[in-house]
Amino acid sequence: MDLILLGPPGAGKGTQAKMMADRWEIPQVSTGDILREAVKEGRPLGLEAKSFMDRGELVPDRVVIGIIGERLEEKDAAGGFILDGFPRTFPQAEALQEILGEMGRKINCVLSIEVEEEKLVVRLTGRRICRNCGQSYHLVFNPPARDGICGRCGGDLYQRDDDKEETIRQRLTVYREQTQPLVAFYESKNLLKKIDGGDSKEKIFSRIVEVVESDCRG
Ligand code: AP5
Repeated sequence: MDLILLGPPGAGKGTQAKMMADRWEIPQVSTGDILREAVKEGRPLGLEAKSFMDRGELVPDRVVIGIIGERLEEKDAAGGFILDGFPRTFPQAEALQEILGEMGRKINCVLSIEVEEEKLVVRLTGRRICRNCGQSYHLVFNPPARDGICGRCGGDLYQRDDDKEETIRQRLTVYREQTQPLVAFYESKNLLKKIDGGDSKEKIFSRIVEVVESDCRG
């Protein structure tokens, strides 16, 4: 099953992608996570991407298209994948179609997680992430048992550089201008499934399971 998760920053794409990956045993492929890892390791890719990410802008298409082209060739993606945060522009969507076409594959479904804007800001300003294992928390909705400490591995929790309110607003503007038009693009291809993302993560996940198991099995 080859799936795309579309939605604004804070819609819960990463949260749901992890739950989906566990259920269907296919990898979550997050361009944001791959870029942050490259920044952390000080690789050239990270150095190029960091200034765009810190400003809440998109990293150039050629960079992320290259990342996805390589990642989808990996063995663990042979039985399917969940794209989280890609594509975000028309050139990315077209490149994806080409990459998959060359592999004899195609997207089965595009799940668009929809959440009102003020909820997104609250979710993102409260997000904290484990520096060690990447587990995500929220100060109000999913707090760690011990302040600042990951309940899974004991690592320190930190706030992403782009989760400051001003940068969040910029990311939302970029989403509206450059990524939201993809909703209509995939709707016109009969691939789009809208998911109400305003409830608890468990309720949203049940909706996703229902849709995927009835409509996206290919
Ligand atoms: P990326 O990492 O993809 O960030 P994003 O799309 O802005 O998405 P987020 O990770 O912020 O949110 P999410 O929807 O995954 O929500 P989450 O589950 O974490 O991209 C970062 C940057 O990298 C971009 O700005 C860009 O510069 C660059 N980039 C990445 N991909 C690119 C591309 N294709 N092209 C160009 N540039 C690219 O949840 C958020 C919070 O809410 C968490 O605290 C969580 O615990 C909480 N939460 C989740 N669900 C619920 C719920 N149901 N109820 C209450 N709280 C919830």
